[in-house]
Amino acid sequence: MNKLIIAIDGLAATGKSTQAKRLSKAFGFIYVDTGAMYRAVTLFGFNQFPKGSVDLSLLNDSLDQILIHFEEVEGKQQTFLNGKNVTKAIRAAEVNKWVSQVASQEVVRTFLTKQQQLMGADRGVVMDGRDIGTVVFPDAQCKFFLTATPEVRAKRRYQEQLEAGLSGTFDEVLNNVKTRDKQDQTRTIAPLQKAQDAIEIDVSNLSIDEVFEILHTAVLKKHESIHR
Ligand code: CDP
Repeated sequence: MNKLIIAIDGLAATGKSTQAKRLSKAFGFIYVDTGAMYRAVTLFGFNQFPKGSVDLSLLNDSLDQILIHFEEVEGKQQTFLNGKNVTKAIRAAEVNKWVSQVASQEVVRTFLTKQQQLMGADRGVVMDGRDIGTVVFPDAQCKFFLTATPEVRAKRRYQEQLEAGLSGTFDEVLNNVKTRDKQDQTRTIAPLQKAQDAIEIDVSNLSIDEVFEILHTAVLKKHESIHR
């Protein structure tokens, strides 16, 4: 398989990372979870201003103190913030609540977009997020945009949170996915929107395997058309 950039964007909790991980394994590409990067910056903001909130201007001025990297631990990709494994911490309810506000800041987006572009330069990569096909890699060869009803998404995310031992009720999860979508879609910089050349898939009534099959087949087809 030649190097390709596969961009998976979409609404909150549509299973983008699950699909991105599987595709990266299937093709031997690296996987970059850009949502985890925005979440890690948000967590840094919390630790910096421990009053149950994030001071956006203080955070914007401190981005040079933030180092995010990914590492494979026992076969699973983990997120590190300044050397500390924050994989679970970045899924906490307060991060869910603040991350879209942090992600609407221009300096934060510039800071992370540059890193994402470097991570994907000259190699096969699967990257998931909100603006990968529109801003980070507008020339990506394969672009997907995942959607589903808020209820389906909240149900899956709530289940994941229970399994991970994280707190929060179903209604809180439902409200959070709706609020984040709205904030992500209406922000001025790099809003969440389908790239005009992305394949849109409504995953509401599809299993993880079915979605994977659609994505996998589309990537193979694209690869074939490019390298014919
Ligand atoms: O997993 P889920 O879909 O719930 O969210 P995520 O991918 O972890 O992203 C968390 C938040 O980060 C999103 O709601 C966006 O506000 C922000 N984000 C972004 O603005 N741009 C990206 N490329 C990725 C995430």
